[in-house]
Amino acid sequence: MVEVRNLKKHFVLRGRGLWGKKILVKAVDDVSFSVSEGQSVAIVGESGSGKSTLIRCINGLIKPTSGEVYLDGQRVARLKGKEYREKVARKVQMVFQDPTTSLNPRLKVFDIVVEPVLAQGKMSKSQLKDLVNDLLEKVGLDPELSSRYPGELSGGQCQRVAIARALSVNPKILLLDEPTSSLDVSVQAQVLQLLNELRHKFNLTYIFVSHDLGVVRNVSEMILVMYLGKIVEVGPVERVIDEPIHPYTKLLIDSMFVPDPNLEMRKPSTFGEPSTAVNEGCKFRSRCPFSIKECEFYDMNLIKVSENRFVSCIRWKEVS
Ligand SMILES: Nc1ncnc2c1ncn2[C@@H]1O[C@H](COP(=O)(O)OP(=O)(O)OP(=O)(O)O)[C@@H](O)[C@H]1O
Ligand SMILES: [Mg+2]
Repeated sequence: MVEVRNLKKHFVLRGRGLWGKKILVKAVDDVSFSVSEGQSVAIVGESGSGKSTLIRCINGLIKPTSGEVYLDGQRVARLKGKEYREKVARKVQMVFQDPTTSLNPRLKVFDIVVEPVLAQGKMSKSQLKDLVNDLLEKVGLDPELSSRYPGELSGGQCQRVAIARALSVNPKILLLDEPTSSLDVSVQAQVLQLLNELRHKFNLTYIFVSHDLGVVRNVSEMILVMYLGKIVEVGPVERVIDEPIHPYTKLLIDSMFVPDPNLEMRKPSTFGEPSTAVNEGCKFRSRCPFSIKECEFYDMNLIKVSENRFVSCIRWKEVS
């Protein structure tokens, strides 16, 4: 269904000052994976690890530096205009983190929801009305809300509108970029439940970006852990969270699970900040307590450690 092959997205940034040095940011750095129909895959990793860039390459919102994305065997990068709308926009829709900024505040809910449909072709007024009523019901909203503006709705209601809009073209795949992280905890649970129900009802495929491992456990079967543009660990969600192998995954899980919510996030002192300057060898080695000389030359290819589990660490046996 979705296949990502050797995908790279590099940005060139200029350092400070008029003659500032050019800095190459490898936001996505040779990433390959595939997602089958009906599967839900989570992408986790610290801020700046390339999660959003990766999923934006999947629907063609960002043009990759190299590599390919295939949807049902169709290459995304080459498609433009009508072909893009038919072969990509109809299949893949995206839900963003903050509905208060992703929804146009000047449009009524009705017009927000039908926008992707109208981009695909014409429909009569009564057909559109039926469609909106149906979609709002699907996401648990009163169809009466169709004449309101986003500013008149709560955060949870806005995110439901964003989901209705995404579903309007009957997509097969939803790309969800932290869809619940801007919501209150109780509302978050309701929206997650809705997403789970919709996935099973319509056999949707999800690629779900999240910071929150609790959320990930709830909505996904597989997990991809990213670090500075590289996938460092892949496996079934429960296994990766309960028995992480890569030193970075261990750090991530350590810093996320805080037994007392009043305590500050635990940050093991042996681990520093991510260093974008490390471009050769294992990118995690400057923070890794297990690193050895060989790590300087390791290209971070994923190593199969068991059925369905892959890790990019030559020291994985010593770590686990
Ligand atoms: N348009 C851009 N121009 C230059 N650099 C960019 C651009 N978009 C992203 N980056 C850089 O690419 C890297 C990955 O960014 P990205 O937004 O994909 O990370 P992320 O994992 O989604 O982070 P977050 O959890 O904060 O959303 C970062 O270093 C970021 O600064
Ligand atoms: Mg992001």
